[in-house]
Amino acid sequence: SVHDCQLVDLPIVHDKAGNITVLENNNNIPFNIKRVYYLFDVPMGSERGGHAHYELQQYVVAASGSFTFILDDGKEKKEVFLNHPNKALHIKPGIWREMKDFSSGSVCLVLASMLYTEDDYIRDYQNFIKYRNYEIQ
Ligand code: TYD
Repeated sequence: SVHDCQLVDLPIVHDKAGNITVLENNNNIPFNIKRVYYLFDVPMGSERGGHAHYELQQYVVAASGSFTFILDDGKEKKEVFLNHPNKALHIKPGIWREMKDFSSGSVCLVLASMLYTEDDYIRDYQNFIKYRNYEIQ
């Protein structure tokens, strides 16, 4: 459910000259990273997302700036505001997500458990609801 999608504190190596956050497979991330991508140059007012995944897990980080994720498990919704590079939002499989309120210059970094495949997407909300209901029964 959306309650399983939590903000995780990431470790920081503090330094007067700047901080470092490190994520390592099998150490401090609960899945193997197969893909890294990032959203940038998102125009003001853009809304993205509007899909779920059958299997994909993601860690989403506001590498710069801020934005809001709206998570939906078919029954409940929750909004998560990301505005710091030491927090990751863990998105579990089977969660519909939308993104909004990207600040100017924001960078949305995503660590993903699978390579890109369109077969893993559910892009139709009615199909998503059907899928969730089958899963629950
Ligand atoms: P999508 O995941 O729908 O974007 P968002 O959820 O951010 O709105 O991806 C948009 C398009 O980008 C999609 O049609 C195909 C392409 N894409 C890839 O080719 N590889 C990828 O790893 C991702 C994330 C997207």
